Amino acid sequence: MRSCLLSGASCHLFCLWALLVGPVWLQNASHHRRKDHGGGDEGVVDKPKLLLLSFDGFRWDYVNRVPTPNFLALKREGVKVEVVENAYITKTFPDHYSLVTGLNAESHGIVANEMFDPALNRSFSMETDSIYDPLWWEQGVPLWLTNQKAGGRSGAAMWPGSDVKIHGEYPTRYLEYNASMPFEDRVRKLIEWFTAPEEQAVDFGVLYWEEPDESGHNLGPESSLMDVVIVDIDEKLGFLRNELKKARLYERLNLIVTSDHGMTQLFPDKIIELDQYVSRDWYTWVDKSPVVALLPKEGRLEEVYSSLLEANPHLNVYKKEDIPEYFHYRHNDRIMPILLEAEEGWTIVQNRSGTFMLGNHGYNNSLPNMHPVFLARGPAFRQNYVKHSMRSVDLYPLMCHILALRPLPNNGSLANVQDLLVVGPSQAPFAGPTGSPSSSSGPPGGVTPGYSYAPTVGSLLGVVMVLGFLMVFVKQVTLKQLPTLPMQSREMSQPLLQEDLHL
Ligand SMILES: *[C@@H]1O[C@H](CO)[C@@H](O)[C@H](O)[C@H]1NC(C)=O
Ligand SMILES: *[C@@H]1O[C@H](CO)[C@@H](O)[C@H](O)[C@H]1NC(C)=O
Ligand SMILES: *[C@@H]1O[C@H](CO)[C@@H](O)[C@H](O)[C@H]1NC(C)=O
Ligand SMILES: *[C@@H]1O[C@H](CO)[C@@H](O)[C@H](O)[C@H]1NC(C)=O
Ligand SMILES: *[C@@H]1O[C@H](CO)[C@@H](O)[C@H](O)[C@H]1NC(C)=O
Ligand SMILES: *[C@@H]1O[C@H](CO)[C@@H](O)[C@H](O)[C@H]1NC(C)=O
Ligand SMILES: [Zn+2]
Repeated sequence: MRSCLLSGASCHLFCLWALLVGPVWLQNASHHRRKDHGGGDEGVVDKPKLLLLSFDGFRWDYVNRVPTPNFLALKREGVKVEVVENAYITKTFPDHYSLVTGLNAESHGIVANEMFDPALNRSFSMETDSIYDPLWWEQGVPLWLTNQKAGGRSGAAMWPGSDVKIHGEYPTRYLEYNASMPFEDRVRKLIEWFTAPEEQAVDFGVLYWEEPDESGHNLGPESSLMDVVIVDIDEKLGFLRNELKKARLYERLNLIVTSDHGMTQLFPDKIIELDQYVSRDWYTWVDKSPVVALLPKEGRLEEVYSSLLEANPHLNVYKKEDIPEYFHYRHNDRIMPILLEAEEGWTIVQNRSGTFMLGNHGYNNSLPNMHPVFLARGPAFRQNYVKHSMRSVDLYPLMCHILALRPLPNNGSLANVQDLLVVGPSQAPFAGPTGSPSSSSGPPGGVTPGYSYAPTVGSLLGVVMVLGFLMVFVKQVTLKQLPTLPMQSREMSQPLLQEDLHL
């Protein structure tokens, strides 16, 4: 090695010793540094941190219609997925719960924004306090709880379900739902929780914002007035990026920006009026357009079904057991005996009284207009990488992987999305000096994944290097060719960032 004054075999033995001890010593050194800095950031082996942000109703292509420099920066600094197939039905509560459970709606039990559970004889409505009844939520376990069970701490700012005591527990830190609380205040709360003293800091956060969903419903997604709304969302993302930089979190935290669903334009002449075809006395109207759940009154199932079946060419009518298998929307008591699905752009009402929206979602999850945006950046993610497609349920195993948690049974697949990540666990390198904490685009590979894998990786790296050393020894090659420090092997495990670049 560098200044080895010994010669021959004894030097090699010394090298062998150094290679074995080096990685262990480095871990000790990093560990101590972390303690010394008490939450400092440079060159520190750091527990993985993850923040999941949803801008409700942010359709995948909104970023293409006006300049969105902050979304663009995330794409350059991280990954973008162009097509994200969300879970059916494409509504706020079901899709948000799918994101944090990895389950289809039929499996997590939040099958709609408005539900009836015949076994409980209870109704759930986004508009009432019924959402605080834990029973609705307990067919699934949200990631914030799994994180807490494993010793982590979670922080939640208004994510649907995150202020409900699910399976007996709230998120470690959370805000009660308050639609009036500005985005900026939600961000400040989360940053406060992430930067709390080591024994209290959260490592997983969820953040929810109501727009651009609300404007999309009111204005219609194709309205030019939506441009302003999208610019505003981009500025909100800019605010978050800036606050993370100020808190010296930007380079240490994994940030995922996505949504629950998209939005499609409605038309005042594309209306299906149920009153024209079937008496209101025959059914209870459970969930709203465009995927309407009907509970027929006792003995009225066949009459309701046959009255509607051929009623309107823009209406799909299913008995529960005939709902297409690919929707994964059948196997739950909360799915009603009859489901009506409007064709994209159409609205189902009972009659024409009442207000009319210009945008809506809920339709077929294969429709591009139903798909959400998806971008992510941070130490776990590759840079400037565009992936064609994923399913929103795949996000759950991905997040578990980042947080080094064992996922509960789910409908996603890590294999489908692993290419978004810098390296697999078996390759995860040591933490080394990172780029400047506030630089928005550090050099490729100036980032550090996988704290939790460090011990395993240390041993693996040690073994690899010993093997390398033995080969060198056997071949009796000159000392110069030996690795000098374990740190250098980080270079070997850098991802091939150059492949698959789509700009
Ligand atoms: C690492 O630290 C532990 C205690 O934290 C100590 O027992 C061990 O000897 C250290 N190993 C090295 C190689 O310094
Ligand atoms: C279900 O609850 C309603 C009140 O919400 C009540 O009128 C009805 O009798 C209950 N049905 C059964 C079967 O308990
Ligand atoms: C909701 O948030 C607004 C704005 O921060 C605040 O003025 C109001 O007091 C909050 N309401 C409740 C019930 O906390
Ligand atoms: C439409 O339905 C509402 C109740 O939702 C009812 O009050 C109104 O009379 C109905 N209008 C017509 C024209 O049937
Ligand atoms: C949903 O969309 C897919 C893709 O466009 C299509 O193949 C399928 O038939 C649609 N399902 C229904 C029930 O319309
Ligand atoms: C989704 O996952 C749950 C939990 O593992 C399982 O019970 C269910 O059968 C899965 N659904 C599908 C369509 O594979
Ligand atoms: Zn929504």
